[in-house]
Parts: sequence; C-alpha cells; structure tokens
Amino acid sequence: MNIGILASGGDGAGMNYCLYNLYKKLYKKHKIFLFNRGFYGLINNDILNYNFKYLKKHKDDGGIIIKTSRCKEFEMKKYQDIAVENIVKNKIDLIIVMGGNGSFNGAKELIVRSVKVMFIPCTIDNDVNDSEYCIGFDTACYNCANFIKHVNTTMQSFNRTCIYEAMGRECPAIAITVGNMVDADYLYVGNSCSVENCIDVLRIAKQKKDAPIVILRENLVDIKYLRQEIEKKLNIDVRTCIVGYVQRGGKPTKLEKLNAKKFAETCAKNINQKNYNNSIVVKNNKFVAKKIIF
Ligand code: F6P
Repeated sequence: MNIGILASGGDGAGMNYCLYNLYKKLYKKHKIFLFNRGFYGLINNDILNYNFKYLKKHKDDGGIIIKTSRCKEFEMKKYQDIAVENIVKNKIDLIIVMGGNGSFNGAKELIVRSVKVMFIPCTIDNDVNDSEYCIGFDTACYNCANFIKHVNTTMQSFNRTCIYEAMGRECPAIAITVGNMVDADYLYVGNSCSVENCIDVLRIAKQKKDAPIVILRENLVDIKYLRQEIEKKLNIDVRTCIVGYVQRGGKPTKLEKLNAKKFAETCAKNINQKNYNNSIVVKNNKFVAKKIIF
C-alpha cells in the first residue's frame, strides 16, 4: 500500500515518537509519504523525503518534524478536491491524520471522497471525542505543573497569591489535572465558577497559606480583571502568569512516549488487518480502533 502521513492542528510532545513508531511498523511492507505542514502538504503536493534514520534521530524531540498547520483552506470544498487529486496522482491508498478535533473533521472529508483514513488523536487539550487520551496531554500537564511550582517559590517569598492561566481552549482537562498536581486552592475552569466564589475561597485559603494558587482555564474571564477584583476585595498582593506555550513545547514524558507508541502500533496493526477508516482511541485504558462514523 502507499500510505501518507500528516500532522494537523496544535502539536503535542510525543508526536515524533508516534511518527517514528508508525514508520517503523509500516515502512517495510508499505511505501510511506510524509506530507509537510498537514493539509497544506496535501493541497500543495508537498512531500518530505525524510528517511527512517532521520525519524529515529528526532523521535524524542518535542514538536513534530513533519510540521503542522491550521489549514483554513482545507475547510473549502475546492481545496479538499485538489488535495484528493494529489492523493490519486501519487497513488496513495490511505492517509494517517495526526491531530485534534478540527483535523478529525478534515479526515472525514477525505473519507467522503473515498480516501481510506486512520486518525490518531493528538492535542494537549485532551478533548477528542471517544478517546480518554490524546498525545501531548501528559507532557502539557507536567510542563504546566512544573512551571507553576517554579514560579510559586518567588510567590512564597512575598506571600503573594498568584493566578496561573492554563491553555486548553474550552476544555478544562489541563487546568483540573494540574490543579490536583500542585494542590491549587481554586480552579476557575468552567461557567459554574465565578469571581465572587473565587474571592470567597481565597479569603479562607489566605488564612492558612502564604501563597495560594488559582488556576484559570483560558477563554473564561480576563485574568487582569480577576486580579484587580481579588486585590480590591481582599486587600492582598496578587500576581498573574499566563503559562502559555511552555505547556505545548518540550520533550515528551515517559508516559507520553509509551502512549504514543501504543497509538502507533494499534494503528499499524489495524492497517495490516485491512481495518480502515478508524480513529485509534483509548477506551477503558485500552488502545482500540473505532470506526469513524458520520
Ligand atoms: O492545540 C491546542 C491549543 O494549544 C489550545 O490549548 C490553545 O487554545 C490553542 O491550541 C492555541 O493555538 P495556536 O497556537 O494556534 O494559537
């Protein structure tokens, strides 16, 4: 078979390890085409000539060596058709898409056009439907928790309360997990939370702790506004930190690599069993293939 692989959407540590393991499991039996920059690579017929040795060299790196992108064009029928023309021109039988929810929709557009697809969930947000785990999540939590622990030493010295804004788009998974990892005092992670509630909790926390920790999920409430309100109502010293891309970057954790390898092996096994058009998901702690349905 001729198999194309692409990465799309936000990257996550462990994607290179997954890619390496996919290649390792598939390249002796199949011809592999690595597309540059996700769906842009399909549209522009941009194929990388990386070999197994190169993938092996970068297997432990953060990011994704075949590059990713958020390809707006691929939401348009015209470009979806161009991409499929290139797939047909290269006689590619199947595309493996590594990405999050947006990329999953892109993968479906390929299936609609009779291209066989396998999907591997990769996003630090850990919010791909049907999968308990997505590549990048463990490392993002580890990085975010380490960042908070690091910064909190100076907050301790000054008896300052700090609000840390964690990435995760609309998904609270990182903020909640990290909250447990650093024993945060208030998790501002959803619409059931409020500025007033946060202030009430901090009023009590401040009696027991020098430097309480608030974790705020991004896109919920303005971090500067939250700080001002807390300072005003409690008359305490508050600082803010946006954790940002430190979460998404860096080398994968041990668990990340183990999971990335299992995703790759499950994907390759199903391809070799001719079980196509699946998303590889974690269900009840097991790596399984789930049919992509419309
Ligand atoms: O990949 C997911 C994510 O990291 C979200 O947590 C975040 O909101 C978003 O991507 C940021 O995307 P970009 O780097 O494209 O601005």
